[in-house]
Amino acid sequence: MEATTKPSAEQVEREIGEQLDQETFDPPSGFRDKALIGDESEPEAAARDPEAWWAKQAEALDWFEEPDQVLDDSEAPFYKWFVGGKLNASHNALDRHVEAGRGDRVAFHWRGEEGEERDVTYADLLRDVKRLANVLKERGIQPGDVVGIFLPMIPEVAVAMLACARIGAPHNVVFGGFSPDAVKERMEFSEAKGLITVDCARRKGKAADIKPAVDAFLDDVPSIETVVVVRNTGADVPMKEGRDLFYDEAIEAAGEDCPAEPLDAEHPLYVLYTSGSTAKPKGILHTTGGYLTGVAWTTKHVFDLKPDEDVFWCSADVGWVTGHSYIVYGPLMCGMTSVMYEGAPDYPDKDIWWELCERYGVTVFYTAPTAIRACMKWGISHPQKHDLSKLRLLGTVGEPINPKAWLWYWKLIGGERCPIVDTWWQTETGHIMITTLPGAQYAKPGSAGKPLPGLEAAVLDEEGNEVPAGEQGLLALRRPWPGMLRTLFKDDERFKETYFSKWDETTYFVGDAARKDKDGYFWIVGRVDDVVNVSGHRLSTAEVESAIVAHPRVAEAAVIGQQDEDTGQSIAAFVILEGEDSEGGEALEKELREHVAQRIGKLARPKRIIWTADVPKTRSGKIMRRLLRDIAEGRELGDVTTLREPGVMKDLEGKFAGEEE
Ligand code: WTA
Repeated sequence: MEATTKPSAEQVEREIGEQLDQETFDPPSGFRDKALIGDESEPEAAARDPEAWWAKQAEALDWFEEPDQVLDDSEAPFYKWFVGGKLNASHNALDRHVEAGRGDRVAFHWRGEEGEERDVTYADLLRDVKRLANVLKERGIQPGDVVGIFLPMIPEVAVAMLACARIGAPHNVVFGGFSPDAVKERMEFSEAKGLITVDCARRKGKAADIKPAVDAFLDDVPSIETVVVVRNTGADVPMKEGRDLFYDEAIEAAGEDCPAEPLDAEHPLYVLYTSGSTAKPKGILHTTGGYLTGVAWTTKHVFDLKPDEDVFWCSADVGWVTGHSYIVYGPLMCGMTSVMYEGAPDYPDKDIWWELCERYGVTVFYTAPTAIRACMKWGISHPQKHDLSKLRLLGTVGEPINPKAWLWYWKLIGGERCPIVDTWWQTETGHIMITTLPGAQYAKPGSAGKPLPGLEAAVLDEEGNEVPAGEQGLLALRRPWPGMLRTLFKDDERFKETYFSKWDETTYFVGDAARKDKDGYFWIVGRVDDVVNVSGHRLSTAEVESAIVAHPRVAEAAVIGQQDEDTGQSIAAFVILEGEDSEGGEALEKELREHVAQRIGKLARPKRIIWTADVPKTRSGKIMRRLLRDIAEGRELGDVTTLREPGVMKDLEGKFAGEEE
């Protein structure tokens, strides 16, 4: 290979600065020529007859009985898809590929934190899924019974999910980083009959006791009659006779024959709790036929995946919807080889992601903007150590990506040859909704793109009228789609109230503010509750953040609206600088205000800038503005147990106490 000189940090910074104003990025021709979708014919076909188009996409699944109706909207907003059809998710994810002679294909290149490796094939998964499904059946778990899953990022988490799906027991996966209290609450809400968990979980070289922590609440949740414990570290953990089983022993003793249950298309596949604007988490319920259709279509076409050539890596945790749809169901439906990594992006070192991309020949990589910003902060030397030339497509999800991070991703990870798909969706939507088809549509950094085929999105005002192009309003979805949540677990009323009462029973209220530009591209502004109203003008915290982050000295920023005597609300910005220095000083403060004024307008200038080394984030990486608001306004702090680094709040509180003196 020819030696290439790597650009310096300054050079990269300068080039990014020069490209910040470039509005559109066409699909690179090397990519477009081989893309599954290279033109607008799919979106056009779907627009002509969305239901017929979705029916066609459902044919990609293996049905035990074909559906006889595509969409039943007679009880809107309780929609039903593919009525009369029967299928099974685990059959579609596994048996189908094994029966077609692809059992030896690696489903997951798994990598443990300490460098252990396991290649798990489709045949391996199927064998274990059948055995675990038999264990659950023997324990009396019936179709419709909820089974909790509280596991780290190990292959057994996929086995557990698919074993549940095989027998029609909806799973309720709880993110491994949640506290035992959060797990308990979710088990109670869902009336779980069983729980699949682990002895200990590993995090950055340390082991955390899981089974003993779970034991502390199990007696208070009597619905849980069976606990299956995966031996992860092999630590000695207490087991309760008659209730607890070790996974390895149980599957060893179980029968290997377990036909996949033919389930109704509307049979619940899983419940997944997500936080709403109130304290009580919402149990999002997804069903089988529609969800799988939407997830399979988007996995294949948004990521342009070819099972014989590509290696896919979605760096999310399986405990979030992104992991459900794009680590487990989507890639397995499509027969892909994926990477599954147990650890943190900076352990054992900050180049681990790029090392794994090189090692496994990852071609398509999907992550979150917050992770990209962390990588930016760590510096360019980490990706530059590795050969990332196999990568051909990159994706992001979870929050708007500021153009500076987009360009960094484009240049340093994608080598300017990989299109970037910014995918907008929610736990509720089940699968990607708004993005760009990477071989057919140009990208605009900062905009997610357009609704995918078969979907209809709009930006509405309070009354439900579409707002003019370029103006901010409320994002709405105006047509039911196959992967949509069917209800909130055992709470039909709250489902209707939350999503289908703002306008009417056919228009889904997203809860995000957005703009649609003249080209039909959607710019997600942020949650409606993160919109700041300064002197009657609405401003997005995300937008101000993006402006601040575009300053060369800034690594990350979190913006909140705080009460203000004069203007109703004013903007406070928590700013993290690049490099070691965490204090910016007066001159930089002034400069940043000017910088924001320049990028958005004087109105958006932060009234207050707070230098900080970190901001509170949830374990999935979302900035917790609620806590920042509490701090800025001197309120008592709410619940901080779901924070990734609870210590951050102490530092910030100290800072504010100091400031007020
Ligand atoms: C936000 C994650 C901008 C949005 C899959 C949404 C995004 C919420 C994007 C859902 C994106 C997600 N651009 N904002 N590409 N993707 N969001 O349920 O506010 O964890 O409503 O689902 O994240 O978060 P959730």
